[in-house]
Amino acid sequence: MERIAVVTGADRGLGFALTSGLLERGWRVYAGQYLPEWPALGELLPQWDDKLILVPLDVGDEASVQEAAASVAEREERVDLLISNAGIRGETQALGEGLDDAAMAQVYNVNALGGLRMVEAFLPLTDASTLKRLCFVSSEAGCIALAHRDGGFGYGMSKTALNMIVKLLFNSLRPEGYTFRLYHPGWMRGYMSGVKGVHADMEPEEAAVPALAYFVQEREDEDRLVLIDYLGGEWPF
Ligand SMILES: NC(=O)c1ccc[n+]([C@@H]2O[C@H](COP(=O)([O-])OP(=O)(O)OC[C@H]3O[C@@H](n4cnc5c(N)ncnc54)[C@H](OP(=O)(O)O)[C@@H]3O)[C@@H](O)[C@H]2O)c1
Repeated sequence: MERIAVVTGADRGLGFALTSGLLERGWRVYAGQYLPEWPALGELLPQWDDKLILVPLDVGDEASVQEAAASVAEREERVDLLISNAGIRGETQALGEGLDDAAMAQVYNVNALGGLRMVEAFLPLTDASTLKRLCFVSSEAGCIALAHRDGGFGYGMSKTALNMIVKLLFNSLRPEGYTFRLYHPGWMRGYMSGVKGVHADMEPEEAAVPALAYFVQEREDEDRLVLIDYLGGEWPF
């Protein structure tokens, strides 16, 4: 049976690499397109024919998320795998440099509420799946117990909030047969600063390999929600 996935923030970085990886595994992918001017997704289209469908999607905008869900529902009766990957870094001010409340609220809106909006909007489609797999790209930056930074308030808080959202979704949907992947992908050379990173440990394409393996494989204990990193290590959250 062909499996169907939705990926947010699929234009570049990890989301693009996850989209490519799913296609190579034979999945049909609805790729959330936030940057229509970025060419990479469009360049994949000829190769993948009707396996790849581009869907305009701003996870920070309720109407956009609803429209994306409606457009997928026009073509599909179910979605098997939802990957909430879209994320922004936002302000990086340290204490004493002035706080940008609006920027922090937008980071929360995209990184935390975006994931929740997606689950809510796609629920009728994921309910119809036998897999019912919800994946969330979080970060060690949201882990309170092991926090080591002294700034980046918006980003850290947004990922902590995302982790809580996932826990509440787990409590609600695990009894319905849903399975969850909460994931820290490692330090990647993505585009979170607006331009491609140069100093990080991994290319997004490298990071996507363990991420995708973890997202699609079965876990022994689906009844325990865990935050797992790219090396398979478990983080408190
Ligand atoms: N990079 C790292 O080292 C690292 C570490 C831990 C966790 N993560 C997490 O991994 C995920 C992917 O990171 P990445 O490095 O691949 O980032 P990236 O290269 O910036 O890719 C994220 C994609 O999401 C898009 N996006 C931004 N706002 C959006 C919105 N409102 N709706 C839909 N898409 C939106 C981005 O567009 P723009 O480029 O226009 O913003 C970009 O195409 C994020 O959730 C991030 O927090 C990253």
